[in-house]
Amino acid sequence: MVNDDFFLPIAIRLDDAAVLVVGGGEIATHKFRLLISRAARITVLAPTVTEAIAEHADGSRVIWIRSEATDAMLTAHVSDKRIIFAATDDALTNRRVTAAARARNIPVCAVDDPAPSTFITPAIIDRRPVQIAITTGGAAPVLARRLRLAIETLLPAGLGHLAQFMRRQRSDMRVRMPDVATRRRVWEAFLDGPGQEAALAGLDNEALEALHAATETSERAGEVWLVGAGPGDPDMLTLGALRLMQNADSILYDHLIPETILDRVRRDAERVFVGKKRGHHALPQNEINAEMIRRARAGERVLRLKGGDPFIFGRGGEEMEAAMAAGLTVRVLPGITAASGCGAIARIPLTHRDHARSCIFLTGHARADGLLDLAWPALVRRDQTLVIYMGLAPLPELCARLIEHGLPPDWPAAIIEHGTRPDQKVHVGTLANLAHLAATRNITSPALTIIGKVVLHRGANQHTD
Ligand SMILES: C[S@@+](CC[C@H](N)C(=O)[O-])C[C@H]1O[C@@H](n2cnc3c(N)ncnc32)[C@H](O)[C@@H]1O
Repeated sequence: MVNDDFFLPIAIRLDDAAVLVVGGGEIATHKFRLLISRAARITVLAPTVTEAIAEHADGSRVIWIRSEATDAMLTAHVSDKRIIFAATDDALTNRRVTAAARARNIPVCAVDDPAPSTFITPAIIDRRPVQIAITTGGAAPVLARRLRLAIETLLPAGLGHLAQFMRRQRSDMRVRMPDVATRRRVWEAFLDGPGQEAALAGLDNEALEALHAATETSERAGEVWLVGAGPGDPDMLTLGALRLMQNADSILYDHLIPETILDRVRRDAERVFVGKKRGHHALPQNEINAEMIRRARAGERVLRLKGGDPFIFGRGGEEMEAAMAAGLTVRVLPGITAASGCGAIARIPLTHRDHARSCIFLTGHARADGLLDLAWPALVRRDQTLVIYMGLAPLPELCARLIEHGLPPDWPAAIIEHGTRPDQKVHVGTLANLAHLAATRNITSPALTIIGKVVLHRGANQHTD
């Protein structure tokens, strides 16, 4: 049994290497085509070969040995090779080739047979020097090809030009800007500006001018980016959030940001957990602000990644004000707030032409004396939806007070637990039994409560998903 997860994508140098392809049919030709523009010398071992191979086999770079892959032939031709392809249409022959290669510790790929292979070739997008390799570890090559197609359509044709331009400027940039972080910032500014388009189009002079302009502004101070990451499902990140996650020098995040989202942050960005959980203050708000400001002043692009939307019960406003008061440039990017994200996955519309003409977002945080201080008469209108953030603990009081102020005990209500995440649950009840549901089902945070007739729109018989 092969474990497909253990293949590590790497790029291997072949311009000074000899490689062996065993086989001369269509499968071997496919590998041969990959190699012909990369490898220094190719030996093809096969009694017959396709036209495409034969036309290169003039004995200089490409040597065709007209023979079956006998043990003697393998012994003679395996040892001095950097990599080997077993690409005949006979599985047993391929297995003999892999055995011979493995016995000599030479990387070998048996086509369509990952088990004896010590490497596999990924699906490749070739815009050299840019190459993108997609592998499913041999599990689903058709899927890899689909992904290749999807990515191909996103990439500009001139990507190779752009990479070549950047390569030509590298040594000069290194001399002029010895500091790695500064250099990276200049390149990123270049890629964000007109220089990228110029280089993609092969207009090197214009690209160079843009690079010089980016160099001149490189001494700027850092920035603070207040970005909403949505309620947890990475599909609910905005394109802008993804881009900033790829450009940040450091990221300050809390417990509402799951690993599946953190995985999409640039790998070498420094991660700082500043999470606050009820009763477990990792960092008080003023220290979060101070950390953010300290880093931006040191020239970092600081990504303050917040659950949902930064300006909805996220204290994003305070963080923005603190950063601005410190004289920093602040960018704010909204995210999908929990109400929208959780409403969507629970199939509960927040407004409805017949039943909810307004929607109120509330926080269920209690006052210091433990009581909820809310404008109750405004909350008990029957043509509106209430969405309660952070409201598990005060749920008994909240429901009781809404009933006391005029909503019926059987008024529909739902709790969405871990909304949009793989373990999400939707608990549907009424004002009378919601607190009981929360306690007996052991509902845990993050959880959002939606109250109003809109809850019924998801289907009368579904109580829990
Ligand atoms: C401090 S508030 C932050 C709200 C966030 N800024 C937003 O716009 O969604 C945290 C509360 O949001 C709600 N929440 C956030 N993500 C959630 C999720 N994935 N599922 C359910 N509720 C969530 C919960 O009520 C949680 O206690």
